[in-house]
Amino acid sequence: MGDTITMNGGRLLARLDELARIGRIDADGGHGACRIALTDDDRRGRDLVVAWMRALALDVTVDRIGNVVATRAGIEEGAPVMIGSHIDTVASGGRYDGNLGVLAGLELIETLNERSIETRRPIAVAFFTNEEGVRFTPDMMGSGVHQGALALDDMLAAQDADGVTLGDALERIGYAGDEPLGALHPHSYVELHIEQGPVLEEAGVTIGAVEGVQGISWTEHVVTGVSNHAGTTPMRLRHDAGFAASAIAVEARRLAQRIGGAQVATVGAIELFPNLINVIANRARVTVDLRNTDAQLLREAELELAATVQEIADAEGVRIASKSLVRLDPVAFDDGMIALVETKARARDHSVLRMPSGAGHDAQMFAPNCPTAMVFVPSQNGVSHNVRELTSPEHIQAGADVLLDVVLARAERVRPS
Ligand code: HGY
Ligand code: MN
Ligand code: MN
Repeated sequence: MGDTITMNGGRLLARLDELARIGRIDADGGHGACRIALTDDDRRGRDLVVAWMRALALDVTVDRIGNVVATRAGIEEGAPVMIGSHIDTVASGGRYDGNLGVLAGLELIETLNERSIETRRPIAVAFFTNEEGVRFTPDMMGSGVHQGALALDDMLAAQDADGVTLGDALERIGYAGDEPLGALHPHSYVELHIEQGPVLEEAGVTIGAVEGVQGISWTEHVVTGVSNHAGTTPMRLRHDAGFAASAIAVEARRLAQRIGGAQVATVGAIELFPNLINVIANRARVTVDLRNTDAQLLREAELELAATVQEIADAEGVRIASKSLVRLDPVAFDDGMIALVETKARARDHSVLRMPSGAGHDAQMFAPNCPTAMVFVPSQNGVSHNVRELTSPEHIQAGADVLLDVVLARAERVRPS
């Protein structure tokens, strides 16, 4: 129907650059950003994106967990087609993770406005609170509350390492909104995101038609041993929390290698106390991130690691308290939506590959409730959660155009025909 519309990639890149200047990190030859959820930099990023939303004459709401939704009216009322992602980052964040999906949504709105294109359904562009989950767990928190997978009060009570609650942090940055939760049920949900891995680049493919998101299991292990002198304490008398935490890291890697396939295991945080060169650590905090596309294998990996952790505790004579921080089963996206991404990519002569997502995304919270799709574009060298995260302007253009076509198909372009 009508001409093939191309998004203004230059304008999208300019917005990505401007947002990346907030919390900017220049290191290792990369230009990323650190905007940890609900910090002042997150607030500054939110304020900038909200200003862009208002400049596009969108109806902007902020809900009780700080999710921001900006809506463009359709010629009919009713459930919107939602474009979403996140603008909070990890501490070593790149400029595209999450930000691309939100800003491509705004670019889509501006492109429709410029061409006076009207759609049957409303189109909403959203960013969700605390997708990364690195300050407050769990991750995908705002979208989880938005879609009823997480309880608002529990999440408002979540505490960071300093004992600050998420509710207080939200108040402090001025994003404790009053929009009620549970009122917005999108007609469909579409998220453009960088792949964050090597698959598309290695395959030489431009677009990923995402089939779903793999299962995620985050566990925190707090080890309690006995601090002692590094020089005078015989090895046979040690109850070394540092050794136990390191053993967990080694066993997690061995577990992933043993299971193979899609299994991954990451020890991303190890903290020792008192963390001194000549003191045997009496306490340690170590986190383990296990993921697999197969629900059963993920469960088996969890049980196997739990047994190994107990063996480590028994052998070293330490106590290990383990707490699950995140537990999400694999999620499958709607096959019709996956096919729509494929069709729209091919219609623009882009190569396309069906693939699972190794990373968690807000989209996985919508998938159980409405037809959901993700559009992936390649990450150079498969790098993400790293300031050297990079996606080419050509791939950004391709992903944004496919997003536009998928959204117009779902929102139904009406005028001009
Ligand atoms: O951990 C994840 O996969 C996401 O970046 N929150
Ligand atoms: Mn992300
Ligand atoms: Mn991320």
